[in-house]
Amino acid sequence: MTSIHAFWLAGRQTTGETTLDVTSPWDGRLVAKAAVPTDAQVEEAVAAAYAVRDEFAATPAHVRAAALDHVSRRLVERTEEIAQLISAENGKPIKWARGEVGRAVSVFRFAAEEARRFNGGEAQRLDTDAGGQGRLALTRRFPKGVVLGIAPFNFPLNLCAHKIAPAIAVGAPIILKPAPATPLSGLVLGELLAETELPAGSWSVLPVANDKMPALVQDERMPVISFTGSDKVGYAIMDSVPRKHCTLELGGNGAAVVLADFSSDEDLDWAASRIATFSNYQGGQSCISVQRVIADASVYDRLVPRVVKAVEAQVTGDPSDPKTEVGPLVNEDAAKRVESWVDEAVEAGAQLLTGGKRDGATYAPTVLADVPADVTIACEEVFGPVLTVKKVDGEAEAFAAVNDSKYGLQAGVFTHDLQTAFRAHRALEVGGVVIGDAPSYRADQMPYGGVKQSGVGREGVRFAMEDYTYERVMVLTGLAL
Ligand code: SIN
Repeated sequence: MTSIHAFWLAGRQTTGETTLDVTSPWDGRLVAKAAVPTDAQVEEAVAAAYAVRDEFAATPAHVRAAALDHVSRRLVERTEEIAQLISAENGKPIKWARGEVGRAVSVFRFAAEEARRFNGGEAQRLDTDAGGQGRLALTRRFPKGVVLGIAPFNFPLNLCAHKIAPAIAVGAPIILKPAPATPLSGLVLGELLAETELPAGSWSVLPVANDKMPALVQDERMPVISFTGSDKVGYAIMDSVPRKHCTLELGGNGAAVVLADFSSDEDLDWAASRIATFSNYQGGQSCISVQRVIADASVYDRLVPRVVKAVEAQVTGDPSDPKTEVGPLVNEDAAKRVESWVDEAVEAGAQLLTGGKRDGATYAPTVLADVPADVTIACEEVFGPVLTVKKVDGEAEAFAAVNDSKYGLQAGVFTHDLQTAFRAHRALEVGGVVIGDAPSYRADQMPYGGVKQSGVGREGVRFAMEDYTYERVMVLTGLAL
């Protein structure tokens, strides 16, 4: 019999009146059923989070840090089982799923460390003017209130971790909504949090149906919304609640720039192998996967065959096989969308260098050259295993090509030159520039987020903690300073 995964309502495991089916994108088998909360249960969770907000904000740092450390340790202990779950519900190859659990271990550990040192308070003397004589300002940060965290399917564990761990670290209650396609990994975080002493109501994990979200987003008891997903949904949320604090981690069409000085055989082999890996990891379903390769004319003809060879060497297939590098997309519709974008580009004159085939939900790793600037794949985030290659003349043209996009999440620049690195850092309109590697590098303690249509605000544990809190100043008077 198929198991039903209960949800977590104010720290308590329970079920509702309905369930949703979680199916494997690889073979369509039913992985599990996830219980779906009723409207009344969602209301109960929000009311509990709101009621506990002052108590939770006042919880000592050691209690919050101990809970976060506990989750980190338990993730280590249960790594293999959780990796299998991620792989089953998401179709992510097991080697990437294991990596994702390792990253979530770090997120909770960083959050525990930050909880211990955050908000020590900053003192500022005010007797710099006669009116401030004997006065001192003490600034500390306090939670803005209950956080509504909305997580996507592509990193079903770690992007839930990025919502929930910083909230616990600052003492902000959180209602976490995992993606309907992949709720099981987020629900496991509930299991681990339930083993801690955190106050009831301080966290809930609820697989709320997407069509119920507009009402929840409007709920004034949750002044902070942290959303990761598509730009369309993200901006619709922000536009619907202009007075709330919204952090939006949205799409990207990551560029990898290969410059003239990165030209030895060894350099080009490295660039090609990194580009191929990170265009295709998780079927390209990462906001920072490589979608655009922009190569200087002096290296283009030697780089492109290497990229094609490295892309063709990607092992596509069953995600449970440790050798598999590229699995299926989240569902067949997603693969059909990618197929239609590639077909559109080819009909408009793009050259298909490899790939271009779909088998159910799996799309073959694909390379396109000479892509017309106005086709969909040149303008939108593909979120699939497809990269385009473009020849440019010099650094300035390369950087302009990176910036010629509505997105601005991360870029990679293959160069050995430190001055070029600094010029790239200044010139590129993105949230992060990676030198000597693909744009797809994310360390979970780094600030992470975009500019332009890639979103607003930053995640990365400490940065999300700042985002969930505000500075409140206390002025002390009559002091012998
Ligand atoms: C994302 O797809 O936005 C997350 C990428 C990552 O965490 O590596």
